[in-house]
Amino acid sequence: MDKRSDLPGFYAKNLQERRDLVAAFASLTDEERALFSTPHLDPELMIENSLGAFPLPFGIATNFRINGRDYLIPLVIEEPSVVAAASHGAKLARPTGFRADADRPVLKSMVQLVGVPDLQRAVAAVRDQKPALLSACHEPSMAARGGGVFDLEPRIIETGRGPMLIVDIFCDCVDAMGANLVNTAAEKLAPLLEELTGGSRRLMIVSNLADRRLARAEATWSRELLGDDLIEGILDAQAFAEADPYRCATQNKGTMNGIDAVCIATGNDFRALEAGAHAYAARDGHYRSLTAYEKTPDGDLRGRIKLPLAVGIVGGSTKTNRLVQVALKILGVRSGRELAGVMAAVGLAQNFAALRAQVAEGIQKGHMKLHAKNLAVAAGAQGEEIPRVAARLAADGTVTASHAAAILRQIRQTAEARHK
Ligand code: MEV
Repeated sequence: MDKRSDLPGFYAKNLQERRDLVAAFASLTDEERALFSTPHLDPELMIENSLGAFPLPFGIATNFRINGRDYLIPLVIEEPSVVAAASHGAKLARPTGFRADADRPVLKSMVQLVGVPDLQRAVAAVRDQKPALLSACHEPSMAARGGGVFDLEPRIIETGRGPMLIVDIFCDCVDAMGANLVNTAAEKLAPLLEELTGGSRRLMIVSNLADRRLARAEATWSRELLGDDLIEGILDAQAFAEADPYRCATQNKGTMNGIDAVCIATGNDFRALEAGAHAYAARDGHYRSLTAYEKTPDGDLRGRIKLPLAVGIVGGSTKTNRLVQVALKILGVRSGRELAGVMAAVGLAQNFAALRAQVAEGIQKGHMKLHAKNLAVAAGAQGEEIPRVAARLAADGTVTASHAAAILRQIRQTAEARHK
């Protein structure tokens, strides 16, 4: 039977019960499950001058159905409401689910050449020698997996320090994010390019504007579930973002809340994704939303997302952080490309849910609910006391630590009096 990601009441279960459900969904071993409560990485293997590791919450977004398959989505993020919002956006889209796909995993690096005596001749020479240059960076192990450097192209750019020759190097990274692969290729080619063009190489580095590696997703939220007012409100919110960069930055930030959280859980480089996403959003000189919404002829709301997502399931910290392996197992993705499609769907769900919440009730209500729960715990509430204190805090509208302590005292006094 197909596994289902709509786990009823998941949010209300305790930690152990949630772990049980996810372990069963993803067939986690006891050892893998234990990684949620034991150290799972050796910081000394990862960065310099380390003092230790810095944990972040690891949550699960439920309800995702993408290309006809159910996924539980691991999200690593410090911000309350993101996991709940993604799950809610996916729940409302669940009747039809998301459709998602991603381009061939192409990443490019660039060699910058300055002081080239004859730029036009250099361009012609690079084109002429393309087969030899490509074979110089042939990597048998990548080729065996169907990848590797497959193209390069010279171009002249005008800069504040005069014209320069840039050679773009294109690599199919298969299941890796690929920055190391393309940087290695650029460093290998740079001396050959210097010889060929008479210029001097400066930078030899990946481009994080991975616009040949776009991921897309779409979903339809029914009019029946949302109602006309909400749909109109979301379309107005979208128009605001399209017209105004001050709003658009926040809208895209919300979309990236979900994408970054999967990115971190899967050991990928969220700074690379952020750089690529925002550069792509501004590709035509006007900063745009990564998502788009329209009303279908039936009056439903259709949402779409398109952005570069250079992510992998091998390499990077996918090996050094053992919880990354667990996250990938929970996701059950079989390729970097599938992961990119899933992330696009999560970004769309996240953005939809943020717009829905703001149009319907404002974002603070959800934040405050969790904040109230945190204050209740901080005041010393235990078990059943936690939701009671949190509910009273929210109802009183005074969500402060001192009020949480006062409510807790009151609840305990009443309970004591009853037992006498
Ligand atoms: C908060 O992290 C994200 C939102 O501000 C996104 C948005 O405004 O659309 C809620």
